[in-house]
Amino acid sequence: MSFRSKTVRHLSIGLLITGAGLAWAHNGAMGIVKDRMDAMSSMAESVKTLKPMMRGRTTYNAETVQAAAQSIARLGGVHLTEMFPEGSLTEASEAKPAIWQQWSQFETYAQELTLYADGLAASAANEVSLNDGVAAIEGSSQPMTVEQLALMPPADVFGLLTKNCAGCHKTFRSKK
Ligand code: HEC
Repeated sequence: MSFRSKTVRHLSIGLLITGAGLAWAHNGAMGIVKDRMDAMSSMAESVKTLKPMMRGRTTYNAETVQAAAQSIARLGGVHLTEMFPEGSLTEASEAKPAIWQQWSQFETYAQELTLYADGLAASAANEVSLNDGVAAIEGSSQPMTVEQLALMPPADVFGLLTKNCAGCHKTFRSKK
């Protein structure tokens, strides 16, 4: 066990030094699992910045919202799915095997994460709106576009974004 955790630490350091490309080839699943946990934690940090602003508990700042949304957008889509190579399950991982059984649904969540994050960045300068507009949108099953999201109050787009996180976790992440 202690050998193993030391190895993990070395792999993580290796990841930082060599970059994701080499880490992929040499470090295998341990490196990638650590990598995606770090990416997820970084997104959680962004959400932590956004949430109180969207609720009116901290002063709304469109530029901060934009930066946090762009940071999430960069970690979604292909960037996210690439961090889940088939069979990359370790003891530490909370990833469910369902990811590789329902890969296209997993991919859709990852793509929509970037869509909503881009939409949030694009709507950041709009009126925040603290009323609950999300319910109305939910009624429609049409996939939205960044252009449509750009016209919405950012608090509503943020609602869609966090629903996406929760939706993917519900199906594809086990609570340990
Ligand atoms: C496409 C699916 C998907 C989306 C979208 C997604 N996650 Fe995750 N998330 C996962 C999976 C799967 C894991 C478990 C990864 C593992 O342990 O190998 C995870 C793990 C996490 C963790 C735990 C990281 C750790 O250190 O163990 C956090 C925090 C997290 N996600 C936050 C978020 C936030 C915030 C969002 C939205 C902004 C988000 N996730 C969007 C699939 C997703």
